[in-house]
Amino acid sequence: MSGSDPADRTEPWWTDAVVYQVYPRSFADGNGDGVGDLAGIRQHLDHIADLGVDVIWLSPVYRSPQADNGYDISDYEDIDPLFGTIDEFDALLVEVHRRGMKLVMDLVVNHSSDRHPWFQAAKRSRSCPKHDWYIWRDPVDGHEPNEWRAAFGGPAWSWDPGTGQYYLHMFTPQQPDLNWDDPDMRSAVYAMMNGWLDRGVDGFRMDVINHIAKDPAALSDGSAAYVMQPRIHDHLREMHERVFAGRDALLTVGEMPGVTVEDAARFTDPARHELDMVFQFEHVGLDHGPSTKFDNRPFDLPELKASLARWQDGLAEVGWNSLYLGNHDQPRAASRFGAAAVAAAAGLDADPLAFRYESATLLATVLHLHRGTPYVYQGDEIGMVNAGFRSIDEYRDVESLNWFRGAVGRGMPIAAALEALAVRSRDNARTPIPWDDSEPAGGFSRTTPWIGMGQGWPTVTVAADRAAGDRSVYEHHRRLIDLRHTSRTVRLGAFALLEPDHPSLWAFTRRLADASEPALAVVANLSSSPLELPRSIVTRLGACVLGNLADPETGALRPWEARVHEFA
Ligand code: GLC
Repeated sequence: MSGSDPADRTEPWWTDAVVYQVYPRSFADGNGDGVGDLAGIRQHLDHIADLGVDVIWLSPVYRSPQADNGYDISDYEDIDPLFGTIDEFDALLVEVHRRGMKLVMDLVVNHSSDRHPWFQAAKRSRSCPKHDWYIWRDPVDGHEPNEWRAAFGGPAWSWDPGTGQYYLHMFTPQQPDLNWDDPDMRSAVYAMMNGWLDRGVDGFRMDVINHIAKDPAALSDGSAAYVMQPRIHDHLREMHERVFAGRDALLTVGEMPGVTVEDAARFTDPARHELDMVFQFEHVGLDHGPSTKFDNRPFDLPELKASLARWQDGLAEVGWNSLYLGNHDQPRAASRFGAAAVAAAAGLDADPLAFRYESATLLATVLHLHRGTPYVYQGDEIGMVNAGFRSIDEYRDVESLNWFRGAVGRGMPIAAALEALAVRSRDNARTPIPWDDSEPAGGFSRTTPWIGMGQGWPTVTVAADRAAGDRSVYEHHRRLIDLRHTSRTVRLGAFALLEPDHPSLWAFTRRLADASEPALAVVANLSSSPLELPRSIVTRLGACVLGNLADPETGALRPWEARVHEFA
């Protein structure tokens, strides 16, 4: 936990916090069924606590038919037997708190599962009070009311013969969207949230929360987008009032695909009582082609630097950034932005593990030194890489499977579709945590896991990384997290990007207005060649505070070297 004295603080506690995301299916399997669970998390809690993180965000463990790996919830108040029991959850929470960490739950209330009793009641008849808890429309000329497409393929409307109506689902047909215009539905959600907070959880990561407000006119004619409708602010303020107000030391973070920096400033302005921070998607969309995310476009460093810098500037005065390069929906950061990606962009056939330690630690250094709350996705702290699956049979993710089927159906050669999945699929980040190199599943499970171990295993393991001394990705993360806890400059210093157009240097400074601590500069070489630092930077570099390679030499950076220096 934080090294600073809480009595001195005026900023919210999470301004120097670091969050670790656990994707439970893939973390550790305690009961030997091949799927990660709460017992597994409990066994490995020290791995998380020893990193020094302050908060664990737990992806969904609620009861679910698992159409979308738990993001389709059929009972918000209970734990899925796949993951354990409510008693095991309580025991985990005690252990998390005992280690001085907080636990934030995923909140998935844009939609429920179609098996949730609410939806079962809703489809019983049009006159059932719960009918209005979901979004229904009569057919128009025998068809869907508009042409919206679901995020995971197909129309966003499915036909329900019982009621003779279509229901809306922005994701799979098994994930019907809840109707946030219904006050009783909202009250039921708030009651559920209060229940978890009363149980001791410390906040929520809110799944696609900017999708909850839909424009009623657009629902009929499809004329406007379904995200970012003005009522979202009313809903979030009401939620704050009825759930969070009067409770201390919580964390709320809203996942918001498509959010702009101007919107984010409004959502996270403390005076508006909406959210502490949001997950934005701009920087993780830069390498998407014009049609879909599976249309791959090599990433361009100046664009990536500029995008994150814009968010730093946009939320400098009001609001707060969350910082991430990966999560359970994104490819592995080391593969996407590291040496293998740069080689691939240059048309070279890259070894997926080339400069892996350097790439992973460089990216972590850059991320953790931005202003905001960093999120470490499980496995990134040991430099895990993309899955490297070669056959469609290896994939499990509903989005990947649907897209593959559609693309191949439209005539894309299978090899090209597999190549796109190998770069973009969400399964890249969902392979099990390889605790060691033992058979059959690297200490993740005693049996065959639900998804393959991926190409990094058995080279990349927790055991090997933690034994790697000054080449341990984990140790490097620990140093970065410690620096955030002890440095006001890292926590609050103003951000300024240096050399924005440089194709391989990522450099920026952080500086406190009151100059009570030395300013810091980050210099990082995203290339596999040595880099001579510009004189304008070298002449101002002071002591090296932290770096990913031993024996740094001030004027130059080795391939994939990243350092933090005091700065004049
Ligand atoms: C969010 C989740 C993702 C899920 C989707 C639908 O984007 O992170 O995993 O599939 O929402 O709930």
